[in-house]
Amino acid sequence: MAPQKKRADSNPDLEDQNILVKDANIWTGHGFTRGSILIEEGRIRKTSRRTDAGRHEAIDASGLCALPGLIDVHVHLRDMGLAYKEDFATGTAAAAAGGFTTVLDMPNTLPPTDTPRRLVEKEREASKKARVNIGFHAAAVPEAKTTQALARAGAFSLKLYMPKPIAPFNVEDDAQIRQLMNNAREARIPVTVHAEDIVSRKETPATDSFRQLADGRPPIFETRAVERIVRIQRQTGCKVHFCHLTLKSSLDKIAAESSSVTSEVTPHHLWLSQRVLEKVGWKAWMVPPLRSEAERRRLLSATCSGASDVVASDHAPHTVGEKERQPGSSLPGVPGLETELPLMLTLVSKGTLNLSLLVKLLADNPARIFGLRSKAKLRPGYDGDVILVDLKKRSRIDSSKFFSKAKFSPFDGMTTKGALVSTIVSGRLVYHDGEMLGKEGCGPVLRSSFSS
Ligand code: DOR
Ligand code: ZN
Repeated sequence: MAPQKKRADSNPDLEDQNILVKDANIWTGHGFTRGSILIEEGRIRKTSRRTDAGRHEAIDASGLCALPGLIDVHVHLRDMGLAYKEDFATGTAAAAAGGFTTVLDMPNTLPPTDTPRRLVEKEREASKKARVNIGFHAAAVPEAKTTQALARAGAFSLKLYMPKPIAPFNVEDDAQIRQLMNNAREARIPVTVHAEDIVSRKETPATDSFRQLADGRPPIFETRAVERIVRIQRQTGCKVHFCHLTLKSSLDKIAAESSSVTSEVTPHHLWLSQRVLEKVGWKAWMVPPLRSEAERRRLLSATCSGASDVVASDHAPHTVGEKERQPGSSLPGVPGLETELPLMLTLVSKGTLNLSLLVKLLADNPARIFGLRSKAKLRPGYDGDVILVDLKKRSRIDSSKFFSKAKFSPFDGMTTKGALVSTIVSGRLVYHDGEMLGKEGCGPVLRSSFSS
């Protein structure tokens, strides 16, 4: 049961967080039921067949499906010293336009999110700019004291970036990783992992093609990283979430572990293979890199059979100038917030993925893993985060229309079936039919509650 806040007698400050979503097909967790959702003071008050809007604003949702607001647990919204790539206002606009009512931001920023003070600075900046719920991951740090302090300050995880740790950290040394996991377990905070064990590779091979660059980060790096981290996790009992996995074998290994170990895949690894990298080059360059077509198919079919816990975008904006450089200098990462939902709904329309699993991968499981207890259900007492989608609507991906500052995509020109119509965050209509209605700063800043 979601925590139910005591209702004050109509608080005028919260009146703009009242809305009636009328005549929708409401997602129940198993299927749809026809009715309306009344959101008052930012929370779902009731769902019922007939509801009078009273004085509240009403939105006509007939013919549309109401789903719980989606949660993207892996985004790089940059800001601070990297605001020229993306900032909290544009990144959360991209989230709202993509159906995400909650995002968790990664710590590889300038400065990095590696102290409680820097975490609080980011929270303060986000509270002025965000349009959707936003929380923060912190960097994996070696000291127990900082780990405790980051957890108390509301960090959602400690991110261990194996190819190049953010804080000084020797990833070649199992003992240091064990210490990190012991600290994290005591602070009751999960460790999120970028699983590429590149320790045996001493330098970037000289290359003039993106394909060769990808070959320099082969699947064995991921396999080795997953095996090592799982082995150390078993010794510590810490919660571990593996980011952007690319291999079915990784998902299978993780599924065989305890529920403390969870997995995530991205839409780009599900949809694209090295063939696309050869065709579009920098637009499809990210790490971990795209894999072979056979591997991609295995990952997709495993994910659609429930082998992964989460789908996340790894939204990683850069300027076109930073991307267009030669292989080896081009920065890895692609924007994904505005393509993720149409791509996943297209899989549903093809019969490859069922809608129930889509909601699990994009809302239920992210909420469970990261302790967002009042989210991901359309039930009384839960947060008023709702999206409306049209399962039949066809669109064409056009990165020039992105709300993100990063106006490129490896998916440009692709036709999708199933589209977002509206995004409601805490009872406020933030996005509707191509228009950004939410003002900067209307999105709540979230702090984790692992230790409460
Ligand atoms: O492609 C990527 N881009 N992979 C990462 O792990 C980091 C990300 C970024 O921050 O640009
Ligand atoms: Zn990332």
